[in-house]
Amino acid sequence: MYKNKKNDFYNIFLGKLLSQDEGIDAEILSNSALNAIKFASLNRNFPIFSNILSQASNDLQRSNASLNQVVFGVNFKNPLGLAAGFDKNGVGAGLWNYFGFGFAELGTVTWHSQKGNPKPRLFRIAKEKAALNRMGFNNEGAKEFLKTIEKQQIPTPGNRPCVLGINLGKSKITPLNEAYKDYFSSLRLLAHLSDYAVINVSSPNTPGLRSLQRTKEITKLIRTLKDLSNCPPLLIKIAPDLSNEEIDDISRVAMDNGIEGIIAINTSLNRFNLKNLKITTGNTLDQESGGLSGVPLQKRGLEVIRRLRRSTQDDLPLIGVGGINSAKTAWERIAAGASLVQIYTGWIFEGPNLVPDILDGLTLQMEKHGFKNIKEAIGSESPWK
Ligand SMILES: Cc1cc2nc3c(=O)[nH]c(=O)nc-3n(C[C@H](O)[C@H](O)[C@H](O)COP(=O)(O)O)c2cc1C
Repeated sequence: MYKNKKNDFYNIFLGKLLSQDEGIDAEILSNSALNAIKFASLNRNFPIFSNILSQASNDLQRSNASLNQVVFGVNFKNPLGLAAGFDKNGVGAGLWNYFGFGFAELGTVTWHSQKGNPKPRLFRIAKEKAALNRMGFNNEGAKEFLKTIEKQQIPTPGNRPCVLGINLGKSKITPLNEAYKDYFSSLRLLAHLSDYAVINVSSPNTPGLRSLQRTKEITKLIRTLKDLSNCPPLLIKIAPDLSNEEIDDISRVAMDNGIEGIIAINTSLNRFNLKNLKITTGNTLDQESGGLSGVPLQKRGLEVIRRLRRSTQDDLPLIGVGGINSAKTAWERIAAGASLVQIYTGWIFEGPNLVPDILDGLTLQMEKHGFKNIKEAIGSESPWK
């Protein structure tokens, strides 16, 4: 069993920085980490780097066959993934397996490169283990993304140590009624690199994007992308702020049009019970735009998975994301019906050890419940023991 090293670098140094809202800007911290990851990924085959990486991965990776499963035709070594938005440009594509992830979702990628919203646009809310962001799909665009992946010389889909999904969005300059062309151009360029692709219609920071979740719009989008002869398994990522009826509608459309899975949930416009909480701008959360992530999303994330399971009649793989920050919260999402789970804000606050902690915790739960494979836990509603 993995022992959480409370005195390691992350906990001593970054733990302190992350435990307060002020101090080093959240985006600067995240970009510094990504620059190191980019460098390591490009150089990972040099002996000095491969030694360091294999030492790091000894601590973080778990090779437990009971966590292995095939979902929408793709083989996942374990059910824990890095959620979209951390590696928007794919700079760490060759490295995420060393962190122990079974999969990583790269992007959101848009057809046109874009700077995103004015800074500051990412805020820590440490006391609540939450974050507020209004990044606005800052990314280098699909053509540059392709070059970034090619430079890293990553094995092809199906032959990778870590499954790579590509999350697609609409460029800000593209009118909403032409959004489908934007997604199509990106997917046509990147399909051959993707183990799966995601239609992101749920980020709150691109004006009008969420309206693409409506039946007519999402149907057109799905059909356009499905027309690609090499379309990879295609998933939709939905918002937590949909009503139950809207969730039912989108599930129906997804199933009618051959979607392979649904990812729930993106960040929320709801402020839950944190409306009056002040962030570093001096304003309350209620007065700031952007999407909330982290622990405040736990309850809604679980509810949406349960609703989706019902509306898809248990017939479509679901990926649970939102507030997962422990083995227990990951287990609850799987027991509620998620085949796979993803983390973002929890990983930032808890550090890299969260990955082995979750994987060890899931394995132990399976043993306690007498399950031989993670598949048996999905939708079992087995309680955390
Ligand atoms: C800074 C930041 C940027 C994000 N960017 C994206 C994105 O580009 N595309 C996307 O689909 N989700 C994005 N997300 C949402 C996450 O993928 C995830 O759905 C959400 O944060 C809930 O999970 P969490 O509570 O574990 O963070 C972003 C989240 C954060 C915190």
